[in-house]
Amino acid sequence: MEKRQELYAGKAKSVFRTDDPDKMVLVFRDDTSAFDGKRIEQLDRKGMVNNKFNAFIMTKLQEAGIPTHFEALLSDNEALVKNLDMMPVECVVRNVAAGSLCRRLGVEEGVTLTPPTFELFLKNDALGDPMINESHVESFGWAKAEDLAKAKALTYKVNDVLKAIFAEGGMILVDYKLEFGLYKGEVLLGDEFSPDGCRLWDAKTKEKLDKDRFRQGLGGVIEAYEDVGRRIGIDFDA
Ligand code: TMP
Ligand code: ASP
Repeated sequence: MEKRQELYAGKAKSVFRTDDPDKMVLVFRDDTSAFDGKRIEQLDRKGMVNNKFNAFIMTKLQEAGIPTHFEALLSDNEALVKNLDMMPVECVVRNVAAGSLCRRLGVEEGVTLTPPTFELFLKNDALGDPMINESHVESFGWAKAEDLAKAKALTYKVNDVLKAIFAEGGMILVDYKLEFGLYKGEVLLGDEFSPDGCRLWDAKTKEKLDKDRFRQGLGGVIEAYEDVGRRIGIDFDA
């Protein structure tokens, strides 16, 4: 496999073509973004930590029967993935109220949500990733109804697998965002799963161990990501 030209640079990752049109290389950079890219800073080791974190989680999800784009870890900052035709939507499941849900509905942070909520957001920084519903996805052709239904079912299945993994490490999976795409007609989990795109709290102290540390200026961002990783069995030196 040969890495070729850069196809796209997102806020935290870049995507490169390879000599195989079905495969891409994801490069995890140290850039850390919040508020739809209005705040971007470089955090030392972040690319490596998120790349290894994502590889570990994607492998666990695959073992649990959830199809993902992940193929292999290539280096500290690079992963080989399948080339998906991405749906421009973010699927968010919440087990506990936090973030935009609290702002939108005036709910207190920390309230348990039973059953967990499912929300959709349009990936569009200029519009501030607005919340959308399933009929918007269909009417605007962002995805076919049946493919969105598959993405939704997979998003909930991920919850069962990951809640248990983080609980074993003494943490609560508060919420998370997933992105899906199509590969030869099949809906696969794409993008990444890392503490950048979820909320994780220490189960006892409720300390925040995710990107809210960056959003809220709490410091110790990458130290928290590494702590989460070690608590679920990731060896960042491997
Ligand atoms: P929110 O509370 O800001 O709506 O975010 C819900 C979850 O989704 C949280 O874990 C952060 C994640 N998320 C992203 O990773 N990227 C995004 O663009 C958005 C809107 C949310
Ligand atoms: N990932 C988005 C951004 O970079 C939203 C966020 O995480 O706050 O701006």
